[in-house]
Amino acid sequence: KISLISDIYKELVPINSNILIKGWVKNKRSSKIGISFLDIQDGSTSQSIQVIANKKLINYKNEILTITTGYSISINGILVLSKGIQQKYEILSNTIKIIGKIKNSNHYPITSKKHTLEHLRNFSHLRPRTNLILAITRIRNILIQSIHSFLYHNNFYWIPTPIITSLDAEGTGEIFHVCVKNKKTIKNCTNNQKNIYEKFFNQDAYLTVSGQLTLESYACSLSRVYNFGPTFRAENSNTSRHLSEFWMLEVEAAFFNMHNILNFAEKLIKYTLKEVLKKNAIELEILSKLLNINISERIVKSINTKIIILTYSKAINILNKHCSFLKKKILFGDDLNSDQERFLVEKYFNYSIIAIIDFPKKLKAFYMRINDDNQTVAAMDILFPYIGEIIGGSQREERLDILDSRIRELGLNKKDYWWYRDLRKYGTVPHSGFGIGFERLLMYITGINNIRDVIPFPRTVNHANF
Ligand code: 4AD
Ligand code: MG
Repeated sequence: KISLISDIYKELVPINSNILIKGWVKNKRSSKIGISFLDIQDGSTSQSIQVIANKKLINYKNEILTITTGYSISINGILVLSKGIQQKYEILSNTIKIIGKIKNSNHYPITSKKHTLEHLRNFSHLRPRTNLILAITRIRNILIQSIHSFLYHNNFYWIPTPIITSLDAEGTGEIFHVCVKNKKTIKNCTNNQKNIYEKFFNQDAYLTVSGQLTLESYACSLSRVYNFGPTFRAENSNTSRHLSEFWMLEVEAAFFNMHNILNFAEKLIKYTLKEVLKKNAIELEILSKLLNINISERIVKSINTKIIILTYSKAINILNKHCSFLKKKILFGDDLNSDQERFLVEKYFNYSIIAIIDFPKKLKAFYMRINDDNQTVAAMDILFPYIGEIIGGSQREERLDILDSRIRELGLNKKDYWWYRDLRKYGTVPHSGFGIGFERLLMYITGINNIRDVIPFPRTVNHANF
């Protein structure tokens, strides 16, 4: 029976018992007197276990001495308490079998030396072997588990919203078109028409930019719902914060106004931060060391500080008064750029999380609820230090006549929204929701500066390998 290294550290394996471990060599040191020390990981934990091999093993000279970082091996031995101070346990091996070698170790891109994140991006398939990517991946796992758990305990249902949709939910026009390339299309093509594709069964279809609209339909009966899934944006933004394919958590709740949902978003964020702090202590330490920043301190500060709420009007007043790098005055209706957002979050509010609310309606999507001033909508953007916007949300327009006038105003086709309008025709209720860019939240928690490093296989402008 295979034992897991995590079981050893959980003290589930008795000391002095015989165990079998299968895993990968992280590091090997050999002494001149015929002893080798191998650090082994098996994926079950960030911790490794030291295996001691000595020259009495029959394959010591021919095989064990040739082992390098990355070999997969199987070890039979006795678990003992280590006499060294570096580690608590070690395994005195009786047999070591090589499962998979590293062919030509000079060419292995992931050696035990430190590599830059840029270098590792060329090897998305091998980079999960590094401590850095492993730590991020383990945090990613706890983060999503804690989100599901928080929502479950607050009576939210998980609704899988469709990936193929017929609407551009955010109305930005930056969407991927889904087309068909089947036998029929290929047959009907001449040679120089090879790139002709058919529409999705004769209708326009897109990859989802947000599941919100369909999620609203379930919020209008289950009351509290959420969606967690891949989301696609065709914006040509080649930045460290944009992916063409990212994961979004979307929460939608009936009978919540914007302040209720903002409050709820704050609780959700703080709960997940606490969980990561508790369950990923080892990974946070690994990241802090590798990136040379104190990540836990940053997280603790966010847990202990209330989110600062200010209106868009207040935000532009502050910027116009205090921001030194403005070339010209920001007018009501101007969008805030990322430098201006960072000024507010980092300089003016000293690295707090801030929520900007009540944006001019012309900056936001058609579905946001018009405020009494008829100029602004009940929208919120939650901005984090170092990253910028991580959460976007709003109260939704539940009044059919006003929704219709917004659809008209924005030149959208009322017919396309017939089912969405039905939700307002039949038993409409006030409701609100938000979307969290999951990778951006993960960047904040891990201290990673480029979004390409927190998703296993990044898809960005000009880049969709594998
Ligand atoms: O602000 P957005 O566009 O909001 C919506 O889509 C709403 N329908 C959500 C809702 O209310 N249910 O996107 C939400 C979040 C952003 O705040 C950002 O964190 C993230 O999604 N996001 C991206 N993350 C990575 N790459 C991109 N290209 C992103 N675009 C948005
Ligand atoms: Mg937004």
